[in-house]
Amino acid sequence: MTSTQTTERTLVLIKPDGVQRSLVGEVLRRIEAKGYRIVALEMRSADAELLGEHYAEHRGRPHFEPLVEFMGSGPLVAAVVEGVRVIEGFRSLAGTTEPTTAAPGTIRGDLARAWETQVIQNLVHGSDSPESAAREIGLWFPAL
Ligand code: TYD
Ligand code: MG
Repeated sequence: MTSTQTTERTLVLIKPDGVQRSLVGEVLRRIEAKGYRIVALEMRSADAELLGEHYAEHRGRPHFEPLVEFMGSGPLVAAVVEGVRVIEGFRSLAGTTEPTTAAPGTIRGDLARAWETQVIQNLVHGSDSPESAAREIGLWFPAL
């Protein structure tokens, strides 16, 4: 266990597959059940410019275009979630990127379709570091 139990904020997205499959409540329930606090919450239709910025580090990789297209294919839910070590903690709740092998008990492991051959429909996004969290919260919720 680390000795620094810092309270942090992270950016969570419930991706268009999660909204389309009516999993918004289930994902938010898991976040709240863990003891995290939802400090901002909004349903959005994100444009390619915002999504390109959000996934800027993936620009130039083969999955970038399909990813931006998928993320813009329908409404998504953006949230800022607060809690002790929530950045790492939410990624642990979410499970690994690939739904086919994500561990049972995780959002992706329990709820993302195992038959999806694409990694892309994996229900949720969570910031991966304090730097990413600050950058992404600034992008999605500039007023915060
Ligand atoms: P990444 O940031 O690596 O994963 P995570 O969402 O777990 O932080 O990738 C961002 C998203 O891009 C990922 O959720 C799904 C998609 N993706 C692909 O479609 N193919 C790939 O090979 C990778 C690495 C990601
Ligand atoms: Mg990532």
